[in-house]
Amino acid sequence: MVPVLKTGVAKTTASSNLAPSAKKGGFMSVKLDLGLAESFISKDELAAKRSKADDAYIKLPKMDMTGWLVPDENVLPRITKLANKIKSNSQVLISIGIGGSYLGAKAVTEAISGEGVEVVFAGNSLSSKELQRALDAALDKDFAVCVISKSGGTLEPALAFRIFRKALVEKYGEDEASNRIFAITDAKKGSLHDLAVEKGWEMLAVPDDVGGRFSVLTAAQLLTIAAKGVDIKELLAGAKKASTDKKCLENAKNYATARHLLYKKGKKIEILSSFEPSLQYLAEWWKQLFGESEGKNQQGIFPASVSFTTDLHSLGQFIQDGERDIFETVLKVEKSAAEIIIPVDDGNGDGLNYLAGKTLSFVNEMALIGTKKAHADGSVPVIEVVLPEITPFNLGYLIYFFELSCAISAILFGVSPFDQPGVEAYKNNMFELLRET
Ligand code: PA5
Repeated sequence: MVPVLKTGVAKTTASSNLAPSAKKGGFMSVKLDLGLAESFISKDELAAKRSKADDAYIKLPKMDMTGWLVPDENVLPRITKLANKIKSNSQVLISIGIGGSYLGAKAVTEAISGEGVEVVFAGNSLSSKELQRALDAALDKDFAVCVISKSGGTLEPALAFRIFRKALVEKYGEDEASNRIFAITDAKKGSLHDLAVEKGWEMLAVPDDVGGRFSVLTAAQLLTIAAKGVDIKELLAGAKKASTDKKCLENAKNYATARHLLYKKGKKIEILSSFEPSLQYLAEWWKQLFGESEGKNQQGIFPASVSFTTDLHSLGQFIQDGERDIFETVLKVEKSAAEIIIPVDDGNGDGLNYLAGKTLSFVNEMALIGTKKAHADGSVPVIEVVLPEITPFNLGYLIYFFELSCAISAILFGVSPFDQPGVEAYKNNMFELLRET
């Protein structure tokens, strides 16, 4: 049998995954590199617009819905207690929510493996097939349901919750079903709030002053993340660090400034690319964050994402050579959670022995460097955001960095980062049709 040569394969777990830098007190911040965008925007333009970003940041704390600016660690003990309760009586947690009540937890739990319960997300579409898949994943196991809706009335999660509540009652009876429901919603109002109070379910409040897409580091998403076994204390510690780190603020202002200038030069689409597939849902979260915050008044940068190198074999052609209205933000991870060494092959039939002894991460890094250069040569400005390693601490920091950048960026566009009036249009049509039938 030919042995698979693996050395130093580090399994990513909640504890082993903690950044030594964070744990030992040393700290490497998320970095921003505008080098491959600088030929598209002059230093003078950057400096002039940058002062507008400074102004935007001064305005920010005076605005409503900015509770996320100061990450709140006070919620940790209660969330940890509830997560432990879920872990003690369930194999599966059904996490029901959509948009900002879903994507943050999905992003973090995809990026970092934990040793908690299996988390199955539901209520983020109206697809019967998807809901059936979630039911199938839960019904023959012990399960709990965490329903998240700030308004308490969003149709997709409300319908999924109704169906899962029935399943819980059928499996466990009323009392035990109630013991397995965790409602995360407004502290005072809404139909989910009222139902939870009436039934006596465990409740957590989504802070009044934090909107859905900015709520990943609040009770809204932390219970799901903790039940999955991800270290939420470290996640919040990273965000807290970012909130007081001058470098983070500087980078957020520079990122917002650069993307705004690129937009003014006709680069209307920003593609977030990553060479780590486990960050694919972080990109989904990022798309919601920027898209819903900024796309208003017939303007805004359209946020798109690609997962490389997979998508170099599908969208790579377009990015290299298609319509030149895009810029790219590469989310680079410096240190991989696992290392695999490429083995020597006696026959060298595939001609790849020149790579023997090198790590797959090294090849991935060369692909990243080569891709950045190719895209910049093809008139795609490239911004780089560098994460030292995927850890809860660093993710908390990165999430905060993107939230801050996004808020500054939306203010530069002259729109409120915290509302989403456009989302109502499809709902009005849908409800009219539903009531007609
Ligand atoms: O960012 C937002 O505010 C939205 O994406 C909401 O999170 C999403 O519509 C879900 O709303 P709710 O939590 O009220 O069910």
